[in-house]
Order: sequence, then structure tokens, then C-alpha cells
Amino acid sequence: MAQEEQPHQCLNDHAGERAALGRVAHACRHYRSSAELEVARWHRNYRLLTPQDQALVPQMPGKIAEARQCIYRNHLFLSAMLAMFVEGEDSYAPPHLAPANAAADELEAKAGSCVAPYDHDRVRYVLKNVARDWSEEGAPERAQSYGRICAELRRLFAGRPAAAGPPSVLVPGAGLARLCLEVVNLGFQAEGNEFSYHMLLASAYLLNGVDRERQVCWQRQLHTV
Ligand SMILES: C[S@@+](CC[C@H](N)C(=O)[O-])C[C@H]1O[C@@H](n2cnc3c(N)ncnc32)[C@H](O)[C@@H]1O
Repeated sequence: MAQEEQPHQCLNDHAGERAALGRVAHACRHYRSSAELEVARWHRNYRLLTPQDQALVPQMPGKIAEARQCIYRNHLFLSAMLAMFVEGEDSYAPPHLAPANAAADELEAKAGSCVAPYDHDRVRYVLKNVARDWSEEGAPERAQSYGRICAELRRLFAGRPAAAGPPSVLVPGAGLARLCLEVVNLGFQAEGNEFSYHMLLASAYLLNGVDRERQVCWQRQLHTV
């Protein structure tokens, strides 16, 4: 069962699940405006400085312009991701995630574009993880974590006879499912479990909705400063 990670909130019923899914999709939908508010704050603070103080941070205008570009790229990524989650016969979204857009529309009708800071932070967290787990730049970091797990799996199952079939590996808390993919690439079977709709939407898109290298682009640095 998927459950959004709001502490102390029980979402066992269907309506609660749908609302949780909608909240996540709604926050992804409004990522751009929420993120731009922060850059607008940088800009405002910069303009409040005296010319002498502005001269001490000459890189600031460029940084602000770059941040806006980064936000736009992240917005394109999230929009492409969300476009996958529609209901209907032609949809290739997993059935439990397919109502994401419809559920976001329901929330939009009630709450407009207002996104809680917690939900906005979760979207940023996912973007950072997408960059680590699915980019070329993230490869050294993945080698230090997933690489060690894969090396251990190879060692443990080195002598296994082919007739025994591929070992099955459960990846608990699978996040964006990159480790599942690495395990499958070893020739093993892998199954991930994950209850965060943020992670589930992004991993479903990255595993099933992207069909060529460098199809998607996002910016990690923006949300690590
Ligand atoms: C610290 S993150 C690690 C994610 C991923 N393995 C990685 O290395 O990036 C832990 C993940 O476990 C998920 N998680 C925690 N408790 C869970 C549970 N009881 N069932 C399913 N997923 C869970 C969280 O949603 C989160 O995505």
C-alpha cells in the first residue's frame, strides 16, 4: 500500500490514498511557482543592497538568472513525468498511480494552487535524488553506496549454479528504484518496496516513461545551495 509520509496520519481508505496521491501530483505541478518565489526573494534582497555591497557579490545576477533556468528545466521534467499519469485504456501508468492527475485536479478545485511548504520540500528532495540516482554526474556517489551492495551480492552468489535460477533480491525502501535496476543488471531478480508517492511517481516515470538516454534533464545544484 502506498502512503504519503505525513507523520501520524493514517490513510488506509481509498479516498485517503487518492487524496495523498493528488497532493503529491499537485505539488509537482506547482513546483515552478513555489521555487521561483525563493529566487524572487534572492533578487529582492540583492536589490536592497547598496551599490557598494552589490559590488561584493558580482556573481549574484548571474546566479539568479541561472537559477531561473534550472527551475524551468526541473519544471519540464516534472511536467513530462506527470503527463504519464492519466487514466484510460491507452495509459501505460501503473493502475494505482494513474489517477494522479485527476486527483490533483480535485485538490486544485478545492485549494487552488496553494502548496504546503512540506509538500514543496518533498518535491525538491525527489529532484535531488533523481539527479543522484539517474544522472552521469551521480555515478561516483552511486558507486559508493549501490556499488558496494552490488559487489557484495556478486560475492555472495558467485558460486551459485545456473540451474538454481537467478537469486531474488528485495530492495526495502527502494526510493527511485535505481538499486533495483542495478541488481537486475547483475542478472538477478529484484523487487522494490516503497510507500512514498513522490518516489513511486518518479520511479514509474524513469523506469517506464523514458525510452532513450538523456531524454530528461534536471538541475540538482539549485536545491543544494
Ligand atoms: C532514506 S530513503 C532511501 C531511498 C533509497 N534506497 C536510496 O538509497 O536513495 C528511505 C526510503 O524508504 C521508504 N520507506 C520507509 N519506510 C518504508 C516502509 N515501511 N515501506 C515502504 N517504503 C518505506 C521511504 O519512503 C524512502 O523513500
